[in-house]
Amino acid sequence: MSLSLHKNNKKSILVEDFAKEVKDGLGRKKKKLNPKFFYDKRGSELFEQICVQPEYYPTITEYKIIIENINSLLKYYDNKDVSIIELGSGSSKKTKILLNYFLKKQEGNLHYFPIDISQEMLYTSSLKLQNDLPKIINHPIASDYFEGIATVTKFISSQNNIPNNKLILFLGSSLGNFEPKDATTFLSNLRKNIKIEDSLLIGFDLQKKKNILEAAYNDGEGITAKFNLNILDRINKELDGEFDLENFEHLAYYNQVKNRIEMHLISKVKQKVKVNKLNQVFEFEKGETILTENSYKYSLKSIEQLAKKSNLRVERNFVDKNEWFNLALLRPF
Ligand code: AVJ
Repeated sequence: MSLSLHKNNKKSILVEDFAKEVKDGLGRKKKKLNPKFFYDKRGSELFEQICVQPEYYPTITEYKIIIENINSLLKYYDNKDVSIIELGSGSSKKTKILLNYFLKKQEGNLHYFPIDISQEMLYTSSLKLQNDLPKIINHPIASDYFEGIATVTKFISSQNNIPNNKLILFLGSSLGNFEPKDATTFLSNLRKNIKIEDSLLIGFDLQKKKNILEAAYNDGEGITAKFNLNILDRINKELDGEFDLENFEHLAYYNQVKNRIEMHLISKVKQKVKVNKLNQVFEFEKGETILTENSYKYSLKSIEQLAKKSNLRVERNFVDKNEWFNLALLRPF
């Protein structure tokens, strides 16, 4: 295991990047914050809790899809060894099942490259993985997706004992955070960085009844609300902000025109908030919102189109019986 191999000595997200984006995002007429800033230590913990809320179907549904289809899935990887790269690996819980099966069937060593923006989460889960599946050769990379993929591609081609065939995992419908245009750009770029034999396994949350979608982002325990509000707490902590979390409220609803869940923080009162490290005061009207996340929901058709525009094809859709979630196996054309 080579835990230290790709360890950045800088923090995965520099506080300067955060500062810049907060300044820009809250300075806009329509205020917004990038959802990648949800995932500090506390935010990552809250997200793990979201994943086990009864209303939050995506995690459990994807988990079941993997378990129920593991044999048909593995058939696509008969008689060739792969290296597994995971984008936004988080706690790697679902991935462990996959890794375990690949480990059993693969002839040579199994190299795993989890890429995650949360360094704490990455190292905690890497230690756990080392303990649970000691045979895996783990190369954790604390960075954003783009930088991470570049690092892995370079690393694999510089080594001659690592399988060059790649399976890229992008689970949990994280791609849903991309604007549709950006999703196409992202996948097209990814496509340029992989070979014809490589493949992608991507989780897509599917379009469904509004009430089911909205419940998933408004869980009864209020964990999603805490997760959403935590981004203000992060501004307080890292940028010496003066947000009173009591003055904001979680808001999540399905935008049926755009096929996306929108998460906002809505200002309960007219207020001014200082953020000292930015030397800035932000003004909020009563009812004004900060858009903190868009989570796009796909259809089999829109997935097909997305793949096509990215020079990929859908080899297989693995869908649950409710048709709530799709784990799509994509291949280059
Ligand atoms: C990590 C982007 C897949 O959109 O469902 C969960 C994040 N936000 N609850 C999602 C999230 C609120 C999640 N993704």
